[in-house]
Amino acid sequence: MSEPILKIENLTKVYSGGFKALDDVDLQITKGEIFALLGPNGAGKTTLIGAVCGLVRPTSGTIRAFGDDLSHNWRSARARIGLVPQELSTDMFETVRRAVSFSRGLFGCKSDPARIEDILKSLSLWDKRDEQIRKLSGGMKRRVLIAKALAHDPELLFLDEPTAGVDVELRRDMWRLIGNLRDQGVTVILTTHYIEEAEEMADRVGVIRDGKLLMVDDKTSMMARLGRTEAHISLSAPMGEIPPEISEFPVHLAKDGMELCYRGGDGTGLGSREVAELTKALTAHGIDYIGIEIRESSLEDIFVGLVEDRT
Ligand SMILES: Nc1ncnc2c1ncn2[C@@H]1O[C@H](COP(=O)(O)OP(=O)(O)OP(=O)(O)O)[C@@H](O)[C@H]1O
Ligand SMILES: [Mg+2]
Repeated sequence: MSEPILKIENLTKVYSGGFKALDDVDLQITKGEIFALLGPNGAGKTTLIGAVCGLVRPTSGTIRAFGDDLSHNWRSARARIGLVPQELSTDMFETVRRAVSFSRGLFGCKSDPARIEDILKSLSLWDKRDEQIRKLSGGMKRRVLIAKALAHDPELLFLDEPTAGVDVELRRDMWRLIGNLRDQGVTVILTTHYIEEAEEMADRVGVIRDGKLLMVDDKTSMMARLGRTEAHISLSAPMGEIPPEISEFPVHLAKDGMELCYRGGDGTGLGSREVAELTKALTAHGIDYIGIEIRESSLEDIFVGLVEDRT
């Protein structure tokens, strides 16, 4: 296999107050993949991105990008990296077009008005090209940050919560844009609280919490490993306790014995097969039910479950 585009080893960050924001993180990113970093507030996502982009100085560990150790060769690597920061931070009095052109120049790229025009058009910013950034809406400002990050045609792009607080339309635009970048071979690492975004976009997902990368897996395996089937069976008469005939199933009673709840499976279809077995057993033992509701956990449920398990 070719060398990963990004290779992080034993990365630890202790902030000056003594707070450990990253704790021995290992992560490899393959060229061309879309990787989603999921984690609650304060998990260390922005710190991790900052360490790769040269905004946060690691306490220990190594980061290699494009095969180079960043502690030796930071500048040349940085020129190949784009960052859409979480916080709005740009010169508000500048016009959209000048700000984006300036970002391109910052990394030593030759001025290319046609390229800037393409980028602004792809983000529906062309009509606003001569507006001052401060006069744009919040969502439009965020588009400008994206345009700035793309201005020097980065090979590795970080998007730190690109869709936090934006409307559905911009979120769809973002997904489309990321799809286009993938087609062009750009590697994308995004952080998000919207797990549907990871589900929609990412090839692999990493879950981070308290500075520790708890797990990294491709999206489908993550679902298979942790997916859970939930079934709520409404009984026609209340049940005092679980009868021995069905006690080997992972079930419990709810709603004063009117509901039999099943929770099991591994996300591979085992759960729904087991629910089918359970209903057969109920019928065989003369236990009458009037309805069944089955639900497969989403990545969102899995994530919440995972975080709760560790606390
Ligand atoms: N400059 C700093 N000095 C001290 N502590 C910091 C600093 N920056 C971040 N932290 C702390 O490090 C932890 C991780 O912060 P970070 O911004 O990386 O989290 P995050 O996962 O990006 O969170 P969010 O989802 O809220 O953006 C937090 O507890 C934060 O308070
Ligand atoms: Mg953050």
